[in-house]
Amino acid sequence: MSSEKNQQFPKTYWREIELPTFQKLNQDISVDVAIVGAGITGITAAYLLSKEGKKVALIEAGSVLNGTTGHTTAKLTAQHGLVYDEYLNHFGEEKARLYFESHMNAIRFVEGMVKEHGIDCDFSKEDAYMYATTDEYVDKLKTEWEAYTSLGIDGDLKDIIPFNIPAKAALMMKNQAQYHPLKFLRALLDEAVKAGCSVYENTTADDIEDDDLQPKVVTKDGKRVTCNNVIIASHFPFYDKLGLYFARMYADRSYAIGIKTDKDYPGGMYISADSPTRSIRYTPLNGEKLLIIGGENHKTGQGIDTLKHYEALEAFAEEVFGIKGYDYRWSAQDMVTLDKLPYIGPLTSEREHILVATGYKKWGMTTGIAAGHLLTDYVMDRNNPYKELYSPSRFNADPALKSIVTTNADVAKHLLRGKLELVEKDPGELQEGEGSVVLHNGKRAGAYKDENGKLYIVDTTCTHLGCECEWNRAEKTWDCPCHGSRYSYSGDVIEGPTRKALELLEEG
Ligand SMILES: Cc1cc2nc3c(=O)[nH]c(=O)nc-3n(C[C@H](O)[C@H](O)[C@H](O)COP(=O)(O)OP(=O)(O)OC[C@H]3O[C@@H](n4cnc5c(N)ncnc54)[C@H](O)[C@@H]3O)c2cc1C
Ligand code: FES
Repeated sequence: MSSEKNQQFPKTYWREIELPTFQKLNQDISVDVAIVGAGITGITAAYLLSKEGKKVALIEAGSVLNGTTGHTTAKLTAQHGLVYDEYLNHFGEEKARLYFESHMNAIRFVEGMVKEHGIDCDFSKEDAYMYATTDEYVDKLKTEWEAYTSLGIDGDLKDIIPFNIPAKAALMMKNQAQYHPLKFLRALLDEAVKAGCSVYENTTADDIEDDDLQPKVVTKDGKRVTCNNVIIASHFPFYDKLGLYFARMYADRSYAIGIKTDKDYPGGMYISADSPTRSIRYTPLNGEKLLIIGGENHKTGQGIDTLKHYEALEAFAEEVFGIKGYDYRWSAQDMVTLDKLPYIGPLTSEREHILVATGYKKWGMTTGIAAGHLLTDYVMDRNNPYKELYSPSRFNADPALKSIVTTNADVAKHLLRGKLELVEKDPGELQEGEGSVVLHNGKRAGAYKDENGKLYIVDTTCTHLGCECEWNRAEKTWDCPCHGSRYSYSGDVIEGPTRKALELLEEG
């Protein structure tokens, strides 16, 4: 790819719309509910709780809808990969059914809001298809189809898909949907503000003081939001208090490109069951169809050469559709829990008034909405059939236990490998726009030379728990392979769990 093209990227299609802006919090305030994080979870909860008459403050570290929600592919579906057979076996029929139902309810909520408020957000009902290109995965689709049948999920098992992809079978789930997530959530945010919700941007929550009945969210600037309930909707929980979330989840990145093609698109949303992951859908764009092709996932900090992931998606799009225009390319990460169910509910069993929602495993368009409803019921002290299913305090030995062992072994491997790695590159060898792990004063460090020749050298030891960060060539960031913290090339924090910048060793 030409360097000119690299300059114009990354650019997510969703953020091309106009979004409202809000002031920073510059005084102490008192509310019923403080919500930290203005992504799909925070905004849905802010809308629902404001409508319930609660006084809500929504606090966002950057600008609204610029986290993972601004970098999604935005399929609204309960088809979350090959999960139903697994959930049936591990959690039983009732929980598997509740899981499906909670995501279908989320789709119905979006559809209902679109109709009731006339929200123009490119919402359309689509069937979702999961296809297999190998015999092994055809068998898995058949087993998953049996799970659909026993759970009463409306679908079908087909043997072709309408693309030039060597698919041998495809499992269809009927009545799913797609939309423009930011147009929809902007409308929800407007309604929340009209109902009295106050929103603060550029306001980072740093801590929670939790020693009396009313917790206080403390911002980086030392301002306090006193409240009855805190909702942590910051993607990775910014506050842990022995919940040990970093040990119970890992961060996984994915990539997306937006292309135009001359080929007709028949409708429907597609995803491969086998590797490499390929996700396909369209969104309307000025009377044409913009194809969104996603996939190429890997654990954060372990993508080796991240640009290669975009190139792989581009090659796939060219082969299957033929590329007429290529204007968008973006990537983001989502958290995956050990048993693949999200954590939604009290942060720990001792802290009922501090609520959290995380671990959506790349299906947060429905999970974020389901979480908004569930957390609202916690705040309103109401029953909700999904409390037990998503409780962060659950412990399901199988299959989580196996994952704990492998996930922690992976972290230990990175802790060790990072320290012992032999680095031969010298900062002086870097080209403009290039970054690399280097040897600096005899130690491993990270260097980046910007387009003007200015050099930034950082200590690559992650300030969270000490793993060594790797260079992400596509986003020009330092990414930690252990729990997914990300830093800019000059060391500033982009994503947690860490809250402390990398040490800047040299600049100039
Ligand atoms: C490439 C990709 C494609 C995807 N495609 C789909 C899809 O097709 N369908 C689907 O269902 N899901 C999809 N997902 C998943 C979905 O996008 C996410 O699960 C969802 O957006 C997460 O929403 P969130 O509200 O939890 O987090 P976010 O949208 O990240 O919001 C969290 C907010 O909290 C803020 N914040 C963080 N720390 C602090 C702090 N200390 N103080 C204040 N604010 C803070 C952040 O700035 C951010 O704005 C995809 C994910 C990826 C990565
Ligand atoms: S994110 Fe945990 S060690 Fe880096």
